[in-house]
Amino acid sequence: MKTFYVTTPIYYANSLPHMGHLYTTVVGDFLTRYKRQRGYETYFLTGTDEHGTNIERASARTGRTPREHVDYIVGELKSMFADFGLDSAHGGFDIFMRTTEPFHYEGAAEFWRRAAARETPKGRENIYKGFYEGWFCAPCATFKTEAEMIPAAEEGGLPLCPIHERPLDKVSEESYFFRLSDYDEALLSLYESRPDFIRPDARRNEVMSLVRGGLEDVSISRLKSSVSWAIPVPDDPKHTVYIWFDALINYITALGWGSESRKAEAGEDFFGRFWPGLHLLGKDILRQHAVLWPAMLLAAGVEQPAGIVAHGLWLDQTGRKGSKTLGNALELPVLRRHFKVDAVRYFLLREMSFGQDCKVDYEAILERSNSDLASGLGNLVSRTLTMIHKYFDGVVPAPDISEGKRLLAKRAGVDSDAQELSSSLELVRDQFVQNVEEFAFHRALEAAWGMIARVDKFISDAKPWELARSEEQRETLGAVLYRSAETLRWLAVLLYPVMPESAGGIWRQLGLEGEPQTLDPNELRWGGLRAGERVGEVAPLFPRIDKAKTMAEIEKELAQRKESEGGRGASASADAEHTGAHATQAAVPGAATASDVKPEQSPQKGATEAQPAPGAQGQTPEGVATYITIEDFIKVELKVGEVLTAERVPKSDKLLRFTVDVGEAQPRQILAGIAEHYEPEKLVGRKLVIVSNLKPRKLRGFESQGMVLAASVGEEGRPVLATFAEDVPNGARLK
Ligand code: MSP
Repeated sequence: MKTFYVTTPIYYANSLPHMGHLYTTVVGDFLTRYKRQRGYETYFLTGTDEHGTNIERASARTGRTPREHVDYIVGELKSMFADFGLDSAHGGFDIFMRTTEPFHYEGAAEFWRRAAARETPKGRENIYKGFYEGWFCAPCATFKTEAEMIPAAEEGGLPLCPIHERPLDKVSEESYFFRLSDYDEALLSLYESRPDFIRPDARRNEVMSLVRGGLEDVSISRLKSSVSWAIPVPDDPKHTVYIWFDALINYITALGWGSESRKAEAGEDFFGRFWPGLHLLGKDILRQHAVLWPAMLLAAGVEQPAGIVAHGLWLDQTGRKGSKTLGNALELPVLRRHFKVDAVRYFLLREMSFGQDCKVDYEAILERSNSDLASGLGNLVSRTLTMIHKYFDGVVPAPDISEGKRLLAKRAGVDSDAQELSSSLELVRDQFVQNVEEFAFHRALEAAWGMIARVDKFISDAKPWELARSEEQRETLGAVLYRSAETLRWLAVLLYPVMPESAGGIWRQLGLEGEPQTLDPNELRWGGLRAGERVGEVAPLFPRIDKAKTMAEIEKELAQRKESEGGRGASASADAEHTGAHATQAAVPGAATASDVKPEQSPQKGATEAQPAPGAQGQTPEGVATYITIEDFIKVELKVGEVLTAERVPKSDKLLRFTVDVGEAQPRQILAGIAEHYEPEKLVGRKLVIVSNLKPRKLRGFESQGMVLAASVGEEGRPVLATFAEDVPNGARLK
């Protein structure tokens, strides 16, 4: 049997998960269910990364031991994932991997020993002892180069992590190093020989240019006296293993690599059966997965993964990455309380153009649930089945139209054979499958919803309620309803991995036997629904959500959560401490950062590319995710500003620093991530569009008092500054 092994990152066990973590896990769950339907034997890994300074510190703040702390977080995380149907009991993940598992200790030590015993491609030892002197960010769990930190504000002060805006730890100690610098050529030839090793292409290009720029060796141990909550270095217990080195290995120790005890449990051949696996991750931790991990595998002589697939990040409405630290990520308990699990799953897969960032808030989920699910899919199911009950006493009508009735049927827009509809359905099925294989989940769903719109229109044009008035047209009426019901059967199969429970619901309402997950979409053939069978009871799949009421409830709940977190003191702040925001920097000291610009400077393609389902009621025009009101718009103050000075920000490839006259007593200082595309000198005197009431924030130690608007062009989001064709006074407001 063909096998499929897929992994999510193992999440830091220092705080509770949010929607970002849910997303990768839903994508993993979706792919697993899809592959199972296609006849693969699957294995799906998620879990927790449980070592390191940050966890030690979080536990100290809560008065727990690190072990108690991680156990507590794991308990909560598992129950949250179970609430979303992602655990084994619901057909979700197969293993919840923990790096504190004894078998992982065994496998990680074996991995270290193997790498240490082998040579680099350039014939030198892979692991050597040296002395590390530098700066470490505990929440990022990465070492920072000078270019990756905000310099200390005063003499003798500490530099800050630009992500967490917290002081870095000075590390100056003996350390083992992994000779990553010897792997540049080997990695490049790996990427070249396997063009789909890193996906999407934009990420592959990013990684390749990073590696072409040269790699530095990585410190892979800390003194036990500095970091004790970690795996001991084999044969040198004074040292502990760097947590990224430890964590990445989980993907193979989970399958029994390097551990007799795990092999005994999972089966001698388990690793051979499931490796190589496919790694899903956010682009924030691409470099660890696409550079460090493949080099580690080469070092230990282990086969490379099947692929590394990086998705974009969920951002808040201001464009910042959703994280616990910033408190701007969507909370799982709130999502769970107000939306159906399947509606959340559908939203996650439909809204984000896989690979690109995407803005999100609770309202966007609500809108999609109402338009695409309640008015779209749910409505088609209920109108079809209600009519079968009403006009055919709940019995599936015959699909065919007899010779003598064909002309009449044609007049109602119904062909005698279902050829046209069934070929469209086949095409949609093929598009769905192809897009899933290419990780374009949003497009797969777009295709499915295109079919919903088509059948909706077919019903509305045929007007069954009018056909029902004429006995002559009874066959036509039956054929219309049969076609709609048969389309729903196909959709239940296609949509099973997206919305397992609702697909099962559609299946039962159609009165079908078995379950949609047992059918391979490629084996669907028109006509599987049998005339003469009884359909089931009609039950609403996605009841419409009252927007005003629900949004008011959510806002109240969020305010209460904020208040109670504020009041919970030490223990709450440790839980809310941090999850995702940290890992955007390299695990590779000295490697240039792919992006040293905060998200508000990066293109937000995902948000504008989201399209509502065609034919769904209350839809917005193409290219508009959700409408805003004029009240929303006037909150944003846009002004004309003239660039007085412009210069590059030291040690940043991307940032320019401007002083801009926006018609106020003093010019403003504004930073923009456009240095790769504009020469600063050429911008002096240009009139730009400035967001003038954006909360000031620090970038690279400089306060940015506004934001410059630019169009985002092409795949890579090249910025093109917005400007004016006519002369306009500084400070003029854009309305
Ligand atoms: N422990 C490391 C991973 C080690 S894997 C060997 C880690 N953990 S994390 O808790 O920070 O989780 C990171 C992952 O969570 C991201 O790569 C992504 O999959 C998911 N997300 C966290 N926040 C996110 C968003 N705001 N948006 C989308 N996904 C993000 O890094």
